Amino acid sequence: MFYRKISDSLEIRLSVPQFAEELFKLTDRNRQFLKQWLPWLDYIESADDTRSFINTQLLRFAKGEALHISIFYKDKLVGVAGLNEIDKVNSIGYLGYWLGEEHNGLGIMSQVVTELIKVSADYYKLQRIDIRCATPNAKSRAIPERLGFTHEGTLRRAEKVYDQWFDHEVYSHLIN
Ligand SMILES: CC(C)(COP(=O)(O)OP(=O)(O)OC[C@H]1O[C@@H](n2cnc3c(N)ncnc32)[C@H](O)[C@@H]1OP(=O)(O)O)[C@@H](O)C(=O)NCCC(=O)NCCS
Repeated sequence: MFYRKISDSLEIRLSVPQFAEELFKLTDRNRQFLKQWLPWLDYIESADDTRSFINTQLLRFAKGEALHISIFYKDKLVGVAGLNEIDKVNSIGYLGYWLGEEHNGLGIMSQVVTELIKVSADYYKLQRIDIRCATPNAKSRAIPERLGFTHEGTLRRAEKVYDQWFDHEVYSHLIN
């Protein structure tokens, strides 16, 4: 199974159906926290829904269209991240992430994104990583800003999260 060790306590692993129960429990516990920024929570009502999602992502992984990883901190699943979309024609990766609230503030996601940039370069030979965050999502925006991404501009009314429209801030990192 694909995995990369980031430190003694932090590892990313390719998401596989065996993680579905644990990932669903994490999602369910953090439903209200995640709903502030992520639009899909109402579609995830059971571990079977999480399993179907992981299976879909694995098929996309097999076709080189996406990479979905699970984040293990001290051997516990604490969040997910990955390349939501890989544009093979233009060698661009669109990166996304979320962490359970109880594991915010530890630097986990900044380290995971740094590792995913290495995977994007070494394994996928991507030349651009793109991160888009809702304008008021300060904690998400802090990640590309902390890692030295370039802020390229604002996409107006780019995403509907339940009954609210958000603008998106676009950040990019060019590889080489
Ligand atoms: C966005 C999200 C992943 C950010 O989580 P986070 O914990 O703030 O990010 P990191 O794991 O990189 O941690 C950074 C924090 O740890 C601190 N930190 C500690 N050690 C650190 C280290 N080694 N490296 C970097 N930061 C470190 C930083 O100072 C920062 O703390 P601060 O917020 O008090 O300034 C999380 O809030 C989340 O999942 N939100 C809901 C879903 C979401 O918005 N997803 C993104 C949609 S675009």
